Amino acid sequence: MDLFPLARPALRFVEPERAHRLTILALKLGLAPRDVAPDPSSLGIDLWGMHFPNPVGIAAGFDKNGEVPDAMLKLGLGFAEVGTVTPRPQSGNPRPRVFRLADERAVVNRLGFNNEGHDALKRRLVARRARPGIIGVNIGANKDSADRVADYEAGIAAFEGLASYFTVNISSPNTPGLRALQNRAELEGLVTRVLKARKGRTPVLLKIAPDLNDEELADIAAVACEQKLDGLIVSNTTIHREGLVSGPHAREAGGLSGRPLFALSTEVLCSMYRLTNGKIPIVGVGGVSSGADAYAKIRAGASLVQLYTALTYDGPTLVSRIKRELALLLAADGIAHLRDAVGLDAK
Ligand code: FNR
Repeated sequence: MDLFPLARPALRFVEPERAHRLTILALKLGLAPRDVAPDPSSLGIDLWGMHFPNPVGIAAGFDKNGEVPDAMLKLGLGFAEVGTVTPRPQSGNPRPRVFRLADERAVVNRLGFNNEGHDALKRRLVARRARPGIIGVNIGANKDSADRVADYEAGIAAFEGLASYFTVNISSPNTPGLRALQNRAELEGLVTRVLKARKGRTPVLLKIAPDLNDEELADIAAVACEQKLDGLIVSNTTIHREGLVSGPHAREAGGLSGRPLFALSTEVLCSMYRLTNGKIPIVGVGGVSSGADAYAKIRAGASLVQLYTALTYDGPTLVSRIKRELALLLAADGIAHLRDAVGLDAK
């Protein structure tokens, strides 16, 4: 994400990962604009015993190591998700591994969970512990782990008491075999062990891929309901390209995010809302770049939304714009509270 109207055109010529690093540094230095005005009450929503001042959060992958969660909240976001974090640090795939598809407002990435590991993130979250704000921790497994489920259990143990909620990420396309954990038998085992690892009641959300068929979605919904998962995040990036993107970088291996992911991820979100009878809160993510997009996700069944790719194209003032537009759309439909819009188009 680039921060300044003046720097943005220049950053576009900088290699994407380097531009991202510069953005994190700028956020650390407090150079980002702030939106600390109170949010309209129509945008607030209560979930899992927490009050979200607005439903717009930063998706996982932007701040993998928890360097700038408070700076992100100051942009006006209602919550921030850090990670994916794995027990041991790992460097990820060889570069280049992030590609801009600017004409399509999309990104392809195959980072492969590059991150500094549990200990580094834990130190940072302990240091900010007294600060307010909802911070989710997205946990994953090391690529070379002998027992991947044990890596998720270790994530719960490491961050309980520091995380406002957990995201169990089994949907990255960039760690070979990871998405197989979405299969029913594997998922049942994983969720049982993860929930058992939890000592308290920190909410556990499952983040799924948009590339699942109806049967797989039904299986996940059944496991989520049976095991009383607290929430779902729909969705991660897609491995599909056909009909979504063309152009020079379209063929790069990895996960596609941004505008071309919007329709697919919203469709899967709507299916999951129906399959779970609206009983499990869903975070809608994939291609959100306007208040209308956020509203469409909410009407399809999302209680919260997240975004990442659009911020890299539009910069941080996008957050205020999405909130402003969303409040106007709710008002135009005579809806006083966000919760009353959740799932309206899924019924
Ligand atoms: C991601 N995403 C991601 N998701 C996750 O659960 N863990 C991660 O570490 C990452 N890393 C990551 C890196 C990069 C560069 C991108 C673009 C994306 C996926 C992200 O959280 C989100 O689900 C998708 O990008 C779809 O949302 P947008 O980007 O279309 O708003």
